[in-house]
Amino acid sequence: MLFPDSRPRRLRQNDAFRRMVRETTLTVDDFILPLFAIKGKGVKNPIHTMPGHYQLSVDNLVKTAKKAYGLGIPAVMLFGIPEKKDPLGTSAYTKGGIVQKATRTLKDKLPDLVVITDVCLCQYTDHGHCGIVDGQIIDNDATLDLLAKTALSQAQAGADMVAPSDMMDGRVAEIRNTLDENDFTNVPIMSYAAKYCSAFYGPFRAAADSAPQFGDRRTYQMDPANALEAVREVTLDVEEGADIIMVKPALPYLDIVCRIREEIDLPIAAYNVSGEYAMIKAADKMGWIDGKKVMMETLISIKRAGADMILTYFAIEAAEELRD
Ligand code: PBG
Repeated sequence: MLFPDSRPRRLRQNDAFRRMVRETTLTVDDFILPLFAIKGKGVKNPIHTMPGHYQLSVDNLVKTAKKAYGLGIPAVMLFGIPEKKDPLGTSAYTKGGIVQKATRTLKDKLPDLVVITDVCLCQYTDHGHCGIVDGQIIDNDATLDLLAKTALSQAQAGADMVAPSDMMDGRVAEIRNTLDENDFTNVPIMSYAAKYCSAFYGPFRAAADSAPQFGDRRTYQMDPANALEAVREVTLDVEEGADIIMVKPALPYLDIVCRIREEIDLPIAAYNVSGEYAMIKAADKMGWIDGKKVMMETLISIKRAGADMILTYFAIEAAEELRD
């Protein structure tokens, strides 16, 4: 049926019609708020590359988490900025580590807020790579044990879910086995399964002080040119026992989200990363775009592509927008 019999505008003529035929909805349930924990008291260091975000000492981190929880946001994702770095990233898996501390306090003060912990070494290693380094090489197999140790120490601190972001091969199985052996069979793994080697992480690396000190991450993170490889990566993680699959970044990789949605039946998370956030904030500040509208359009687009949940620095702002 063609025009004039068919008139798609009929169902767009008023808000009620538009609401009735809307295919995708965005709710506060979709959001996970990333937070940066640092040692100290009363610390709130602005992250200049990510306006509105801070490195927070645990007391202030609890305040922000309370605000998020009050708005109905179900979960936070914790990143740590350790006091000291070394070649083995020791601070990532010590009992007194910053993420472990923040997790214990959060679970004490806000027991119903889901705490997801990022499992990686790059913030904790002096060379800034996500694995152990042997000369110029990132040693995959030697890293697995440390990642599993990190995940275990986070679970012991009370983490509700662990999220490996290192992109070493075999880490999901290693973490699953270690958690199971230690009676953490109920702690799910959200795997950063299709994580691309992206310049969109730039603002985060300034926030977390995690830039590699030599080379780059191209030997472990994925080539932005590849889509079939994402299917293989995701399939492996599913077989290794992942509970939730993540695609990262989100906006430049919505085709991957869409494709993975068709391939697998696990929940999909998309990470609306720091660079995506920074671009919108910068253009809004220049007066070139309406930041709030672009934020909401971005988030609904990520849902429309097939994501079930979104890690986003906009979580609080978007939740406020949805509430109002
Ligand atoms: C650590 C990690 C990174 C991000 C999340 N976990 C940085 C990286 O891989 O270099 C990026 C998050 C963001 O940009 O918002 N491996």
